Amino acid sequence: MLADSYGRVATDLRVSLTDRCNLRCTYCMPPEGLEWLPKDEVLTDSEINRLIRIGVTMLGIEEVRFTGGEPLLRRGLPGIIAAAAALTPRPQTALTTNGIGLARIAPALAEAGLDRVNVSLDTLRPDVFEKLARRRRLDDVLDGMAEAAAAGLTPVKVNAVLMRGINDTEAPELLRYCLDHGYRLRFIEQMPLDAQHGWRRENMVTADEILERLGTAFDLEPADTADRGSAPAELFLVDGGPATVGVIGSVTRPFCGACDRVRLTADGQIRNCLFAREESDLRPLLRGGGTDTEIADRWRATVAAKLPGHGINDPSFLQPARPMSAIGG
Ligand code: 5AD
Ligand code: SF4
Repeated sequence: MLADSYGRVATDLRVSLTDRCNLRCTYCMPPEGLEWLPKDEVLTDSEINRLIRIGVTMLGIEEVRFTGGEPLLRRGLPGIIAAAAALTPRPQTALTTNGIGLARIAPALAEAGLDRVNVSLDTLRPDVFEKLARRRRLDDVLDGMAEAAAAGLTPVKVNAVLMRGINDTEAPELLRYCLDHGYRLRFIEQMPLDAQHGWRRENMVTADEILERLGTAFDLEPADTADRGSAPAELFLVDGGPATVGVIGSVTRPFCGACDRVRLTADGQIRNCLFAREESDLRPLLRGGGTDTEIADRWRATVAAKLPGHGINDPSFLQPARPMSAIGG
């Protein structure tokens, strides 16, 4: 088991398959992109498969989520999914993607054993999309979501980040679109994880504000919270249900006490929190003849040292050195 000293157990492994991306979302990266990880530091497909196997068969990982950067940029993705899905016990598999290229590859991913997708969608307006992601690709994203649903990668969940003065008036229309298409929308508070360190608390659209904006167009009531478990989204029934909308108040309503996640970066670092300031490098063990047991022990020790919370609201908070794109969502 991957237990920490606060009684939490990590069962959800998030694997970043690349730090590269084909978008440049303003809350994530500068326009010119970042200095990408050197190729020889990025884990190979077989190194990733080995770590996932250790996580699932020795450490109690029950769900594997592939992230990036943009994970669809990783050529070996179907094979990596297939290897994870072939493990016993079979973990749940999911993918967090910006949706570009998803339309074409969705059937192959489903075939490989992918269960579900989360697609990022912050706006339905082509011009706003271009301003926000610095590329004109809205239609690709919408097509990707539709093909993912058609391929059975359901429920298709949609992640939206609202930014003041950019897309913060769009909450109701995003929800209407997702309801019409059968997607499960969740709004995420913007977190201080951008490479440029441009996050300002006053620019963050808070969970309270999100609910207020949605409330102008929909009737919302809290859904039964008994089954929320470790899920970060607070769910609300929309117009009496059964459809729901989620609000992930990472900053103003932290859910660290119920966290069941652990992260593996594309270059082989275990991170016990998105906001961890330390990570644990598995690459020397992987490449230096370390045994499965040695790797599992190192991994366990890293999770054991997990802090109780992210501390964003503490005056002493320091943003992690690695940006979101190099950690995975
Ligand atoms: N704050 C909140 N969410 C973010 N994402 C990326 N950067 C941030 C941030 N700074 C979202 C993406 C994607 C998921 C991986 O996290 O939009 O949906
Ligand atoms: Fe790419 Fe996701 Fe960052 Fe946008 S938020 S630039 S899609 S990694």
